[in-house]
This record gives sequence, C-alpha cells and structure tokens, in this order.
Amino acid sequence: MFIHITGTGSCLPEKVVTNDELSMRLDTTDEWIFSHTGIHSRHIAAPDECTSDLAVCAAKKALEDSGVTPDQLGMIIVASSSSDYLGFPTVSCLVQEALGAKQAGVLDVQAACTGFIYAMQVARGLMQFDPRPTLVIGAETMSRVVDWSDRNTCILFGDGAGAAVLEGKETPGGIRDAILKGDGTGSGMIFRAGGVRAVPAEQGKLPFLRMNGRAVFNFAVKIFDEVLSALVQRSKLVLNDLAQIIPHQANARIVEATARRMKVPLSSFFMNMETTGNTSAASIPIALDVLNKTGKLKAGDLLATVGFGAGLTYGGLLMQWTKPLLQHA
Ligand code: UT7
Repeated sequence: MFIHITGTGSCLPEKVVTNDELSMRLDTTDEWIFSHTGIHSRHIAAPDECTSDLAVCAAKKALEDSGVTPDQLGMIIVASSSSDYLGFPTVSCLVQEALGAKQAGVLDVQAACTGFIYAMQVARGLMQFDPRPTLVIGAETMSRVVDWSDRNTCILFGDGAGAAVLEGKETPGGIRDAILKGDGTGSGMIFRAGGVRAVPAEQGKLPFLRMNGRAVFNFAVKIFDEVLSALVQRSKLVLNDLAQIIPHQANARIVEATARRMKVPLSSFFMNMETTGNTSAASIPIALDVLNKTGKLKAGDLLATVGFGAGLTYGGLLMQWTKPLLQHA
C-alpha cells in the first residue's frame, strides 16, 4: 500500500500585522526585519481564536478537497507547540469533537517546527496497521508563545494551520521517504519553559519562547543540506529531479544560503513567509496547500520538504504528487 496526500487545506487568521505596525511598539524597522528574514507581515489570531480553531478550519478544507468525510477518518494527528492547553486535552481531541469524527483515534505530536514532518511519518507508520484515511494537521498560535517585547523573536512568528488528508492506495507514489532526526545538544538554542521543571531564570515570568537566533540559523543551513542531500541520494535521484522544495518558512535568508551552498536555483524553493511569518509546525502544510490550490503541482511531481525546530528536531519528506492521478483514476 502507498500513502498518498488526497487533500490539503489551510487557515490563517483574518488580522494581519505588518512590520511597520511592529515598529510602532518595538525598536525595529520594516527594513531590518525584511532584509534579515524576508518577512513583511504575519497573521495574528483574534483574542477568542486559538490553535484548535485554526486546526479545525484547515481540516475542514482538507477533507473537502479530498472527498473524505469525518466519519471515515481512522486517526487525527496534530503537530503543535502552542496547544490550547499546556496540559490536556490535546488539540487532536478538540479537533475530533469539532469535526464529529466519531471513529477516529487522536494523537498530538510535539516536535516544534518539525512537527508536521514527524506527524506525517507517524501517520504513514500507523496506516500500515489501520489503513483508514488519516488527517494530519500542523497548527499554531505562536502569537501567544512569543514575548512581544523581545524584538529578537516576536518579529519572526505568525499564527495559522495547515492540514493534509492521507489515504492508502495501491497506485504507486505518495510519500516515498522520510528522515526524522534530533540533536538534543542544541536543546538550549530554542527554549520555552512552562512544564514541571523549574527554571530559576524564568520563575515568576510567563513561559515565553527564547532563542539564540544566530546559532539556529547556522544549524538550519547545515541540516537543510544534510536532509535534502540524503533524501535524493537514498532514492537515487538528483536535486534537479525535484519539482519543488518546500522548506520550513522560517527565514528567506536561510533558504537563500541553502540554495547557494547546494548550488540549487532559488526558484526551486517555494517561499511564502513574506506574508505568513514563521508559523512553526503549520508552515509546511500551509505552503503545500498554497501550491496545491494555485495549481502549481502536476501529477508525478517529486516534492521534498525540509524542516527544523526546537529540540533540536529536524527532518524531511520525499513525496510524489499523485492527487490528480487518483482523482481521474
Ligand atoms: O522555526 C525555527 C525558528 N528560528 C529561526 O528560524 C531563527 C533563525 N535565525 C534567524 O532567523 C536570525 O538569526 C534572526 C532573524 C533571528 C536574527 O538575524 P541575525 O542577522 O542573526 O541578527 P543577530 O541576532 O546577529 O543580531 C544582529 C543585531 C543585534 O544588534 P547588535 O547587538 O549588533 O547591536 C540585534 O540586537 O540586530 C539586532 N536585532 C534587531 N534590530 C532591529 C535583532 N532583532 C532586531 C530587530 N530589529 N527586530
């Protein structure tokens, strides 16, 4: 059985916050932010909106795109590092209730910005035992996790959700390979407290995200090369065989440095962080949905995703786009 993506969906909050608006309350400028990140604006959730709402909105669109109904789902997997609740219930439980997906199991995956890649591989594994359609979602309300007085981090992130429906079919193609990796030696590079371990420096403060941006940047460029090279080599391909590379939408400078280092044209990488910012685990499925809905993916196209995040976690997927073939089969 081959695991195919048969539908995608995404959802961004209505409210847009531009760099110029940020520069009115922070010591920063649109020029600095855009030249260092490629980001001009990001979507920010309304006060009564959060991760599970965005996840449900993206999920409904992905289900509609695939033709799968909620009661056909065998599993709902949500990747998020900004869950509605610090403890429980999980986001996937809230999504299951909202969709009325009565037959589905529910699971949250925490791998920070690499979460969607991890969740897709978990889904692919679980579907070997239960081949019913699976809904995989990356959803974040990063605006509730960042410190809005810290110009090093708050300018980077945005809110949103992306979803994909996976179905098992006999037709070859779909998800062909996955690389999941971790490097706990970098656990201090991106950090957010709030669990049961007391962190003296953070005591009494809200558990905001903290980051050593320069160290993360260097790590990202190195692992983009490592993961993309391994994905193509393992399948006896070359980088030019990839119709699209969908990187985690963290920073356009990371993608540009990767393109130079790997001698790949920048046009091979899809980027939309200019208007979304970094939506963490949602960034790759949102980008995939934009590509799908704007007709940029052709039957048989080889796609690679690559991501990195707190943990440190990193990884990638190699996929063959088959949605048009399956629809017309
Ligand atoms: O999903 C994973 C999430 N993490 C990432 O993707 C982070 C990867 N790293 C980055 O994207 C970049 O490192 C940043 C965009 C975060 C920072 O860019 P940088 O070129 O690495 O800048 P820097 O941290 O080396 O800081 C350079 C200067 C500093 O000033 P001084 O010390 O040289 O006077 C910063 O204080 O830029 C200053 N700075 C700012 N200035 C204006 C930092 N943030 C800002 C800002 N506006 N928003």
